[in-house]
Amino acid sequence: MEVKAYSDEIKNFKGDAVALLLYEENFKTIGRLTRGLANRVRKVLETENFKAKEGQLLKVPTPGLSVRVVYLIGLGKREKVDEDTYRRASALLAKRMRSDRVKSALLITPRRGELPRDISKALAEGALLGNYTFDKYKSKKEESFSPEELYIYRGDEKAIEVGKIFAEAQNYARDLVNEPGNVINPITLAQEAQKLAKELGLECKVYDETQLKEMGMEALLAVGRGSATPPRLIHLVYKPKKAREKLVLVGKGLTFDSGGLNIKPGDYMRNMKMDKSGACAVLGVMRAVAKLKPDVEVHGIIGAAENMPDGKAYRPDDVLRAKNGKFIEIDNTDAEGRVTMADTLSYASELKPDRIIDMATLTGACIVALGEYTAGLFTNSENFAKEIKRFAKKAGERVWELPMDDERLRKKIRSQVADVLNTGGRYGGAITAAMFLQEFVGEGIDWVHLDIAGPAWSKEDYAYYTKGATGFGVRTCLEYITKGSI
Ligand code: BES
Ligand code: MN
Ligand code: ZN
Repeated sequence: MEVKAYSDEIKNFKGDAVALLLYEENFKTIGRLTRGLANRVRKVLETENFKAKEGQLLKVPTPGLSVRVVYLIGLGKREKVDEDTYRRASALLAKRMRSDRVKSALLITPRRGELPRDISKALAEGALLGNYTFDKYKSKKEESFSPEELYIYRGDEKAIEVGKIFAEAQNYARDLVNEPGNVINPITLAQEAQKLAKELGLECKVYDETQLKEMGMEALLAVGRGSATPPRLIHLVYKPKKAREKLVLVGKGLTFDSGGLNIKPGDYMRNMKMDKSGACAVLGVMRAVAKLKPDVEVHGIIGAAENMPDGKAYRPDDVLRAKNGKFIEIDNTDAEGRVTMADTLSYASELKPDRIIDMATLTGACIVALGEYTAGLFTNSENFAKEIKRFAKKAGERVWELPMDDERLRKKIRSQVADVLNTGGRYGGAITAAMFLQEFVGEGIDWVHLDIAGPAWSKEDYAYYTKGATGFGVRTCLEYITKGSI
């Protein structure tokens, strides 16, 4: 679907549909329609229970008039409307255009004058997110229909472009996450990163198992040892001429998590192709960064591995030396993400960045704590966390900070035989996982850890999401990197 700005008069629009976004308080903008359309809409409103509540959509067929359908879409109460309301509203429209087989539409907001850039961007982004499907393995393609054009009335062209780049980055991440473990394994994920880098002019280094051994990354190697496909370390770089900050993004890249020898029961193993969501979010961000060219040096680090049970697999009781020299005792092979990230966070720290953001589908405990729609946020720097929370809000991605100052809880990851134990028991499991990661973050580096186990994957269709991968984290990172200045 193409998203474009529209600056002509509404009455000159030649397409299938007009969509009006409306506040609950007033439907005055209906008056912007041509008389014929407005009359028709008013007539239908007399009998329909449309209140313009957020998420409400009313389809008004207008046969014989300048367009064949008018959509009324509720934004809810005016004072509650924010950027994400627009993102959700245009996603709702795109989804509806898909199911109604509407090729083109003009989207009109209740705002007067030229649309602000952030709203133009959110509308374009929402539409492209809402139009997403993953159907490459469906043989019967004729069932699917994709709308062709969405015009945004008085939209800002440049901001629409940025919205497209944001959305494409997320949809790219979603595509990769949705690919199953027999297609994306550590090696093919690394190839994908190289392909991306080549296309977009990023630097990309991939380290294989021999090199990982030389580099002292025993933890990442151990997690991948039970798999027929060996681990890879992926390092992407975007470097502007003059950077105001050096940022490293680290993504958990378990292309499949069976649990290893501590094997997961079937129900829990299902969908564990999504355990690479952090890694794919990093690739999505790098893709957008290469196009947006911000004044921040951005590194993307991924430890790719597959956690499988096997005669060669790592075991409970094993002791592993991570890249920063710390020894890890394995309590449970299913707490593998943090083990791989011990090495990738150590590697990231050696790059001496100002800041690190990591994204990981790390713990089921985080989903228990916060629900499926909110990521856990953990930090060693309240200032950095404050910024990330602000940009997450702008991005419409829910994050909630969990504490790292419980020193009694921290003792749960003490090991009898090594420096640190890879699990801390049932209670506070998301926190002890974050505390484990902290052991591998270098001194003086501001760090935010996002546990995206819940929101990375959706079991429902809602807002701009469909069932499956969401690309969670991409928007927050991009908002942070571009500082909301688009
Ligand atoms: N990848 C899982 C966490 C996860 C669970 C992500 C559900 C998405 C949905 C992680 O590797 C894991 O298995 N964690 C264990 C840790 C436990 C063994 C301490 C968990 O959460 O049960
Ligand atoms: Mn696991
Ligand atoms: Zn995992």
